[in-house]
Amino acid sequence: MVHKIALFNHKGGVSKTTTTFNLGWMLASKGKRVILVDTDPQCNLTGIALKEETEDDEARIENIYNTHSNIKTGLAPAFESQPRAIEAVDCIPIEGQEGLFLLPGHVGFAEYEVTLGIAQELSRSIQTLKNLPGAISDLLEKTANKFNADYILIDMSPSLGAINQNLLMTSDFFLVPTNADFISVMAIDSLSRILSKWSSWARMASANPILKEATYPFPEFTLKFLGTIVQNYRIIRGKETAAFQTWIEKIENTVTHKLVPVLEQNNLLLPKQVYTEQDMNDSFTLTKIPNVSSLLALSQGHSTPVYALTSEQLNQKGIVLKANQRKQNEFRETFSDLADKIIALSSSYAVSA
Ligand SMILES: Nc1ncnc2c1ncn2[C@@H]1O[C@H](COP(=O)(O)OP(=O)(O)O)[C@@H](O)[C@H]1O
Ligand SMILES: [Mg+2]
Repeated sequence: MVHKIALFNHKGGVSKTTTTFNLGWMLASKGKRVILVDTDPQCNLTGIALKEETEDDEARIENIYNTHSNIKTGLAPAFESQPRAIEAVDCIPIEGQEGLFLLPGHVGFAEYEVTLGIAQELSRSIQTLKNLPGAISDLLEKTANKFNADYILIDMSPSLGAINQNLLMTSDFFLVPTNADFISVMAIDSLSRILSKWSSWARMASANPILKEATYPFPEFTLKFLGTIVQNYRIIRGKETAAFQTWIEKIENTVTHKLVPVLEQNNLLLPKQVYTEQDMNDSFTLTKIPNVSSLLALSQGHSTPVYALTSEQLNQKGIVLKANQRKQNEFRETFSDLADKIIALSSSYAVSA
């Protein structure tokens, strides 16, 4: 059974895309079959995964879009009332790591936002809209079956629109990547309020007989929180500052006192001991991600995770090379440990559910 994991925070720049790519690759390198789903109309994940650097790359990507489906064309049968059913997307194998695939994003996916929003509000009264709330989930399930996937990682856009409401509420699990700064503290607070609203909606939608009987039925509401991922650094005007520890504590406090009560009220937590077995406490921090500064640009340029860049790709010498290889090793350990925790947390639930 596939585990659908959403990476959600309506604040941008908190490493959702970076984490999706590095975590997905790590899970695949541990023998899991993984589909990365780009649902952000900015398509950053697609650009990174498909290597968007040279003219040749552009021509190859254009060809992929002309010959393969993507998040938008995959959903078109439902959203554009086409006389055909949703079919699995023919995902693109990501070069360099077996078992890792991309379901490409589309800039125009945002065009479905308004229609889906209306369908989510009115589908109980308007029959023709009833197939939309379950459509995304149907597409992802069919695609996971076709590729025999163990994990789907959903890279989300920084928005609180109907698409994100749907993606999150129909996932099995979610992760909240966050930065150690004031805006992120505000974002967690805001997220708590939104989660409460969206959960009430999802409970109603999954119990609604019209949505259950639709061509694309709205799934059971089984979402569980896996934890937060905190960026273990803070950049102000391009410079890393030393004072991030207090902000990490503020983020953790906000999670404990604002987010967790909402998660408890809405039954979004796994049994407590599942987290404690993974060395997590009341702050639900899964890991802290180190700053790898310039390695990120190289990682994106080579469509390769930070920890898998070769010394040829780094193209550096002497102490600079040594320092960067140390950073790579730290990043590898961080993501390997994160992948192990995610495998443990998600499988514990599947067994007990
Ligand atoms: N660990 C890291 N070290 C240094 N830079 C990072 C790290 N993680 C992300 N970044 C940079 O921060 C920016 C935002 O990351 P991104 O993954 O695109 O965030 P999001 O998807 O949440 O908007 C990008 O420019 C990325 O290269
Ligand atoms: Mg992103």
